[in-house]
Amino acid sequence: MRETTIKGLRTFALAAAAVMLPLTAGAALNPEETLEKANIENGKNIYFNGKGDVPACASCHGQEGLGDDAMGTPRLAGQSFTYIRKQLHDYAADKRMDTTMFVMNANAKGLSEQDIIDVAAFVYQWDQPPTGSDLKAVAELGQPVGKRYLGKALVIYGAPERGITSCYACHQYNGRGAYPIYPQLTGQKYVYLVNQLKKWRDGSRANDPMGQMQAVARNMSDDDIHNVAAYLTTAPLTTMGNSFVPKHEIP
Ligand code: HEC
Ligand code: HEC
Repeated sequence: MRETTIKGLRTFALAAAAVMLPLTAGAALNPEETLEKANIENGKNIYFNGKGDVPACASCHGQEGLGDDAMGTPRLAGQSFTYIRKQLHDYAADKRMDTTMFVMNANAKGLSEQDIIDVAAFVYQWDQPPTGSDLKAVAELGQPVGKRYLGKALVIYGAPERGITSCYACHQYNGRGAYPIYPQLTGQKYVYLVNQLKKWRDGSRANDPMGQMQAVARNMSDDDIHNVAAYLTTAPLTTMGNSFVPKHEIP
């Protein structure tokens, strides 16, 4: 039964991808073709040195691209090329507001379309282990930390009786992502995950296609949010007894 549901949603996801791509890819290029046009050296240079008024991405997202809980920044390394590109477009167009430090909107506006492609390609191909937050260190920052085992149940099964669809249905196993639409959540920073879920819940982040994330987060309590974040930040990318991680078909 659950398998059918997941397959159904996967088909839905692919249909959504077909609708979304012309919108997100600007000049209607497909993601593979756009990725081929990327200058990864330029992207790397922007990441580590910045460009013009735009500061180095590394100063907030880290020298290893893994994000920072004290600053509330996300991990970027390994994230979907198309997804990163969409977020930079959304910040540049003020469709997504960075209410943490009010920096990302200005940063994205300071990059050309080619720069966005280049920096998105650089972080996408950056192969870093799925290391998320150290939950003890997060607790020391004064953040409430949830329970992993309760979060795991929500990630895998959701809570249909409370209107919470499983994260698995869209973000795949343990949140490893279904690119190009559904970002990787595995190994994402705890504080960032909590912030985004609260923003989807109160509607202050509303750049999700068809309101998909807002519909899920609307029904989540603070505890639910802390629990899923505690699980996802520390979850393995691989299934038990199998070290194979499937490659994303579209970047
Ligand atoms: C001064 C700190 C700072 C700098 C510099 C910075 N960022 Fe960010 N970035 C943030 C914060 C804080 C967030 C989370 C904002 C939010 O909660 O919406 C963020 C979010 C993002 C996201 C959203 C990721 C996701 O998973 O949705 C992307 C993409 C991003 N930054 C890319 C970049 C790039 C590329 C650069 C360099 C050109 C950069 N950032 C420089 C602080 C920074
Ligand atoms: C019906 C599909 C769907 C389900 C189910 C779903 N999500 Fe999402 N989620 C999305 C989409 C689509 C996006 C990307 C939105 C965008 O393009 O900005 C997203 C983005 C996110 C983000 C932002 C990631 C980032 O890097 O900024 C978080 C966090 C997230 N989801 C958490 C969850 C959690 C936790 C669950 C399970 C409780 C869940 N999602 C279930 C569709 C879904």
